[in-house]
Amino acid sequence: MTKPVIIVHGGAGRWPKTSHKTALEGVSKAAKTGFLALSEGGTALDAVEIAAISMEDNPIFNAGTGSTLNFEGKVEDDAAIMDGDSLRGGGVAMVKGVRNPVRLARFVMERTDHVLIGGSGAEKLASAFKLPRASLRVPRRVRAARQDMHLFKTGRLTVLPRNYRLFRAGLLSLSSDTVGALALDSQRNLAAACSTGGMSLKLPGRIGDTPILGAGLYADNSLGAATATGIGELAMRSTISRVACDLMRTKSAAAAALLTTRMVGAKFGKGIGIITLKRNGQYGAAHNTRNLCWAVQTSDATPVAQMTGKRV
Ligand code: GLY
Repeated sequence: MTKPVIIVHGGAGRWPKTSHKTALEGVSKAAKTGFLALSEGGTALDAVEIAAISMEDNPIFNAGTGSTLNFEGKVEDDAAIMDGDSLRGGGVAMVKGVRNPVRLARFVMERTDHVLIGGSGAEKLASAFKLPRASLRVPRRVRAARQDMHLFKTGRLTVLPRNYRLFRAGLLSLSSDTVGALALDSQRNLAAACSTGGMSLKLPGRIGDTPILGAGLYADNSLGAATATGIGELAMRSTISRVACDLMRTKSAAAAALLTTRMVGAKFGKGIGIITLKRNGQYGAAHNTRNLCWAVQTSDATPVAQMTGKRV
């Protein structure tokens, strides 16, 4: 029997000081809820799903209720889950109005023959599985989207420069945080889950790293587990979570998180964060953004929550 561990994050990026307390309480609660499941004999998969649901239901985080808005002011969520024992994974992309996208991702993994289902097809599946629907738009995100749109229209938003050119040509901020969880259960199985509203003002139909195995998350009992946050395009181009897991073949979880973040920063750019977990219970958290909101629980003690990990 192994001592269970859970590590969760509530997103990389720039967290305003006024949100720190609520966000740290949110990740602590998610870690605690997931850890409780582990200590009662639940699997790593159960724990990461429960922890991700806790953060999806907390409007401070950009996932589920509280998701950021796309260019048309709508919420389109992505989520995924992966089992490190069987290497099975499931994801959903561009889903509207599903209260807990990570639950739907688990259904995709366990009840269909597919790995990733998007848009209306995923929403039909949510109805078939009788998953709760909800309005996920919250006033804070509507205000943030208005501010971002103003910056965007006046050319003062420096991210997504190509989208700005499309906009200027008449064809057409960004915050991009995410929630994620990794767990190790008493049977020494690893699992990963993540969920997000994506980037604020993203183009409708844009899918980020979160539902993509290898990019937003990866879990393999023989290597480790990892889940990323930040600008999804960087995570997809670098297959960041798979790279971090490969590094854990020979490196510690902390070194894998640090080296991967450093590599992504050097080759692809800033705007990324990652958490990692190994089968020996070691964990890591690194980012090249101002903050990374995360929490870990390794024993029955109170979870430890922080606004920064190893900053690159
Ligand atoms: N990492 C979340 C996203 O870019 O969609």
